Amino acid sequence: MVRTVIVGTGCHLPARVLTNQDLEKMVDTSDEWITTRSGIKERRISSKDEPCSFLATQAAKKALDMAGIKAAELDMIIVCTLTPDMLMPTAACLVQKNLGAERAAAFDLSAACSGFLYGLATADNFIRNNINFKILVIGAEVLSCRVNWKDRNTSVLFGDGAGAVVVTGRNGRRGILSNHLHADGALWKLLHIPGGGCVSPPSRQMLDDNLQYIHMQGRDVFKLAVRAMEESAREALEANNLSPQDIDLYIPHQANIRIINSIAERLQLPREKVYVNIHKYGNTSAATVPIALDEANREGRIREGDLIMLNAFGGGFTWGASLIRW
Ligand code: UT7
Repeated sequence: MVRTVIVGTGCHLPARVLTNQDLEKMVDTSDEWITTRSGIKERRISSKDEPCSFLATQAAKKALDMAGIKAAELDMIIVCTLTPDMLMPTAACLVQKNLGAERAAAFDLSAACSGFLYGLATADNFIRNNINFKILVIGAEVLSCRVNWKDRNTSVLFGDGAGAVVVTGRNGRRGILSNHLHADGALWKLLHIPGGGCVSPPSRQMLDDNLQYIHMQGRDVFKLAVRAMEESAREALEANNLSPQDIDLYIPHQANIRIINSIAERLQLPREKVYVNIHKYGNTSAATVPIALDEANREGRIREGDLIMLNAFGGGFTWGASLIRW
């Protein structure tokens, strides 16, 4: 049976660190509130020279290096992002140019914080059709350009960064076991960026109304995230006749430590099986899962044969889970 195997991982974070203490000087907040309500201590912020495609390229180079695959061998590049450098071209085309991946098709995929899971599932389907395909899947975000730094409800939560994987096909039991993707557009208003699209194109009025920024009803999103992530995690396990006890490492979207802890509790996962790095980077949307996957991989937290679960929830709403036999 052809399975999609992750043969390389990489991540890249901007050098600039914005701490909770820095935010105390910018909005009416405190390190104590941010830490206890979200688990975040600091986040990274891109400079003008570090747009989405730059972060994505740096992460991709590390993943290609680990995979021992040259950029020229790539068949496809998928950049999962809601903050591309420009509306056109895609960030993926800029990454293709930066890497010199001349043979690769390239496109962006937009599914907010679940973007990487959607991208991985897309790559998985291409590879099941062609075992030799080599695909780069990247989650990369510069959310700092969509954050209203005067709004304490959102400014303390988000950060910038990128994570990448290289996937290809192998016969055997290792690889992606299944992907489970969901969406519910009916609730879109709870988490959205209203301005900059064709409904509210860029204009002086749009900027004056702060429509270019992330708008979120945090408490409602929190409850939905816990429920949807748990449900999709259980769905993935059931589809493979597995139980939560079989998971060796659970890698959830890093939006809030209380969301992560709630799901871990519901699935009865011990702390050591749950990967957490939210304290360092905050919520980097589509980048949280591949950054965490790469850090776990490089820290030796993942061994061959381990069962890894990826689980995410984000704007749209979109959510899902992927199970991987490493
Ligand atoms: O990645 C996509 C998915 N996104 C998420 O999953 C995010 C989900 N939501 C959350 O993580 C949490 O809801 C938040 C961290 C956003 C907020 O935590 P909360 O416990 O739900 O707080 P809240 O929104 O209910 O606000 C509680 C209080 C409010 O004050 P009042 O109205 O009770 O007087 C807020 O005004 O905390 C206040 N508050 C703050 N205080 C200090 C809100 N933000 C801050 C802040 N510093 N930064």
